[in-house]
Amino acid sequence: MGEQAREQKEQGAAEEAVAGAAVLGEEQTICFCHNVSLGDLRRAIRAGARTVAEIQARTQASTGCGGGECDVAEILEKEAAG
Ligand code: FES
Repeated sequence: MGEQAREQKEQGAAEEAVAGAAVLGEEQTICFCHNVSLGDLRRAIRAGARTVAEIQARTQASTGCGGGECDVAEILEKEAAG
């Protein structure tokens, strides 16, 4: 594979990753233990939750399997950033 073809392939993969993040919808389940969606987490943050513990108290997300499967902290960080 030539250098130009490799660059095009890498750029395509990067664009797909961005598109994938953009289509993460409100109904996307984040916490499977308690069936909590991204929309549920966003509503909790909009309602004033500012820490993982506050989100846990409002949604139960990340209180089932030890929080290993659903990354509430990452969602909180992204939502707080904008
Ligand atoms: S998937 Fe969220 S606590 Fe298990």
